[in-house]
Amino acid sequence: MERRAFSLPCQEKVCPPFKMVKVMKKKPSFTSLSESTAEDWKIIFSEQAQLYTELPNRIIEHLLLLKGDLSGFPIDRLNHCLQTATLAHEAGEDEEYVVCALLHDIGDTLASLNHADLAATILQPFVSEENYWMVKHHGIFQGHYFFHHIGLDPNMRDQFKDNPNYKRTAHFVAAYDNPAFNPNKDNLPIAFFEPMIRRVFSSPKSSMYPTDIKG
Ligand SMILES: [Fe+2]
Ligand SMILES: [Fe+2]
Repeated sequence: MERRAFSLPCQEKVCPPFKMVKVMKKKPSFTSLSESTAEDWKIIFSEQAQLYTELPNRIIEHLLLLKGDLSGFPIDRLNHCLQTATLAHEAGEDEEYVVCALLHDIGDTLASLNHADLAATILQPFVSEENYWMVKHHGIFQGHYFFHHIGLDPNMRDQFKDNPNYKRTAHFVAAYDNPAFNPNKDNLPIAFFEPMIRRVFSSPKSSMYPTDIKG
């Protein structure tokens, strides 16, 4: 199988869209899943293993798509993500938390009306339940700081007051997400976070699919 080579650093420019050029030695011949065989699935899993291995590359490329997207904000979305992760790292948060901070707005381009859900879904197999919940709900919690300007209830998050993840998520937006719009702060580059991304995405904690696929 041949795929587009990936190399860092490329944070100074937006990488071209990810393209997979597949040259498969063997190809399943079924026309419906019900006709597939165990041998077919060995071939498919072999291809999937390569796809899983390259997930961190795609994560980084999608983060870089946020570069230059100001959408009216003081800094672009990539730098907002980098600044959120930088603040979390500087405060001593652990690696998984920092990666969640880095990815929390990765869904802005494709899930513009429910971006937190997309980020949480990408992270879900690889992070704790509390970090998944934090990312998934950060949009509502963040609204505490501006919902009153757009006709929404700034206390919308109160519906989760009894949830065990309330404090964790309130702290995430207060300490890292809310203040990460500062154009004068130096952010750590994407290359700094790359090894963290690779480690966090190397070992899924949960999935309905087999997670020990070997190519
Ligand atoms: Fe967000
Ligand atoms: Fe954010």
